[in-house]
Amino acid sequence: MPAVNVSDTLQRPLHGLRISVTDRCNFRCTYCMPFDEYQWVERSEVLSFAEIARLARLFAAHGVTQIRLTGGEPLVRRELSKLVAQLREIEGIRSLSLTTNGALLAEQAGALRAAGLDRINVSLDTLQPDRFRKITQRGELQPVLDGLAAAKAVGMDPIKVNAVIIRGFNDDELLDLVEFGRHHGFEMRLIEYMDVGNASGWTPDKTFSKREMVDIIHARFPLREVGRASGSAPAVDYDFIDGAGQIGIIGSVTEPFCSSCTRARLTADGKFVTCLFAETGFDLKAKMRQGASDEELSEIIRNIWANRGDRYSDIRWEQLKAGTGYEPRAHKKIEMITLGG
Ligand SMILES: C[S@@+](CC[C@H](N)C(=O)[O-])C[C@H]1O[C@@H](n2cnc3c(N)ncnc32)[C@H](O)[C@@H]1O
Ligand code: SF4
Repeated sequence: MPAVNVSDTLQRPLHGLRISVTDRCNFRCTYCMPFDEYQWVERSEVLSFAEIARLARLFAAHGVTQIRLTGGEPLVRRELSKLVAQLREIEGIRSLSLTTNGALLAEQAGALRAAGLDRINVSLDTLQPDRFRKITQRGELQPVLDGLAAAKAVGMDPIKVNAVIIRGFNDDELLDLVEFGRHHGFEMRLIEYMDVGNASGWTPDKTFSKREMVDIIHARFPLREVGRASGSAPAVDYDFIDGAGQIGIIGSVTEPFCSSCTRARLTADGKFVTCLFAETGFDLKAKMRQGASDEELSEIIRNIWANRGDRYSDIRWEQLKAGTGYEPRAHKKIEMITLGG
């Protein structure tokens, strides 16, 4: 199928696709999905690998060049490397990456690499075992460190480490995390705590701002701003002036980047979602299972993207700055664990 590029109502093209391969997770991070029990997606409703690959091919035909697999925890989905191998075959996909909590990475890194995965983000918010247990509620630090080492050993490059910085919880570890990345050759991705979903206990005062992070890091390890990769990446990148690599900082709350957001999302149960803070998505799986043709599905994808006008984080920041009372729970957002972070 020839590529047909499409832009939304704010002239943003469609370039990225984040695919949630499962809403299940072996952790219960307090900032994401703290609940023991939840209304999980029925297994029969979860897209098969063949369905995911079919939709990914149609998205690629509309300009998607980058795919990231996420969840929930993607490595709890059995034989994920088989999906990686299928997605690797899709024409036009230049970057295929994975975001994981790392707990199962040591045992899967080799198969993922062999299937064609070269880029990986591992989430790690603290280097202190007690704190790690506290924030994940179910996880242990060491397997994640082992997973990072395994990813390095099999030659994944780049390896990025995502850390959500929460005021009063781990902001005191900012420099330790940065040093950890510099020491091991991992690119730290420092993320402002956001009000994703409805389950986290986010309040604005817990967001440790990008500006504060830059100031603290720059005082210890001088930085030079590089900008956003491809102009549209969530992170603003900085080089260490001493040549010891790079870090990225994602200021979703205090420096929103809606105007350059080119990312679509596909939930584990096949809903096409156009914003991380969306309340609903379009059920592509239902259409697919009713027998829709590639042409029909393509038209739906095109129309939804062409009508997209989302700018949730811009509006939130305008309201927070104006002090007009941003109320996170007034919006019944899809949980991040369902739509894929
Ligand atoms: C939802 S997770 C899914 C993938 C995988 N389970 C993991 O933890 O990497 C994707 C990313 O979202 C981040 N995240 C989750 N909740 C967040 C929040 N409230 N604010 C900022 N980032 C968040 C996680 O730290 C992780 O890096
Ligand atoms: S999906 Fe990722 S961030 Fe959310 S609870 Fe699981 S490990 Fe934590």
